[in-house]
Amino acid sequence: MTEIKNFDENLDLNNFLNSIIHGDCLEVMKKMPGKCVDLIITSPPYNLLNSTGNGLKPGTNCGKWKNAAIKSGYQNYDDNMPYDEYVSWQKACVSEMYRLIKDDGAIFYNNKNRVQAGLLQDRGEIVRDFPLRQVIIWKRSGAINFNSGYFLPTTEQIYMICNKDFKLIKGANKYTDVWEIRQEFKNPHPAPFPEELIDRIISSAPGQIVLDPFAGSGTTGVSAKKFGRDFILIEKSEEYCRMAKARLDGSDWRDTKKLEPIQVEIGF
Ligand SMILES: C[S@@+](CC[C@H](N)C(=O)[O-])C[C@H]1O[C@@H](n2cnc3c(N)ncnc32)[C@H](O)[C@@H]1O
Repeated sequence: MTEIKNFDENLDLNNFLNSIIHGDCLEVMKKMPGKCVDLIITSPPYNLLNSTGNGLKPGTNCGKWKNAAIKSGYQNYDDNMPYDEYVSWQKACVSEMYRLIKDDGAIFYNNKNRVQAGLLQDRGEIVRDFPLRQVIIWKRSGAINFNSGYFLPTTEQIYMICNKDFKLIKGANKYTDVWEIRQEFKNPHPAPFPEELIDRIISSAPGQIVLDPFAGSGTTGVSAKKFGRDFILIEKSEEYCRMAKARLDGSDWRDTKKLEPIQVEIGF
């Protein structure tokens, strides 16, 4: 059974392998020892509710976004920071992630460029101080961000930040740097990874311990388990921790009303 835990800096990290840590990832990562994981695969919130247009701005009818699950934000995170604050927060998170990977480790950091007030917010800004090796373009099957001022964006970026000794598994470079993978439609989490995307990353990259600090419904854990890797998941929302646990344990995880309450004291 997968356990949901609070992170205690006095406990050995091995106690957290194949567990879900309920907490704020920046606080938790700061307590983890350096170079303790092989691979980090993650997708943070995209700050979507901080919107200059009709888009997902709170209080508007959300135009064509009206049926999007993410419209209400996450369970306990409103995804609405002033832009500079968002960039600083994400840089701080990537900096902690970078401290945690081994010399042959890598971070696959997924984010999405946005157009706000008519200008591109290039998420490359977040990762430019780190050893960026490649930007994989994830081409989704569609999008709902209609605006007559620019072409409909259908791609996201996966920034591959690598320490110098990182190498792909033999043959994996055949995937090229453009990945056409449909987004996930059957997961009740508002912004989940498609399992196929994480399967491709994990089957392409070596490393036993895989961390996802913005774990949501636990897709990275599910994929890690499939490929015989160990995972550490961190997630701020109690509901999503419960969803990830049920999913990893093979029980009914899509109906959030049926999820068991978590047994640990809430930390952070
Ligand atoms: C884009 S979603 C990740 C979804 C995940 N990849 C999946 O497949 O379900 C981002 C997640 O980050 C969580 N989150 C937001 N702020 C956080 C924080 N400070 N620490 C940990 N998790 C956080 C949100 O609750 C949300 O579940």
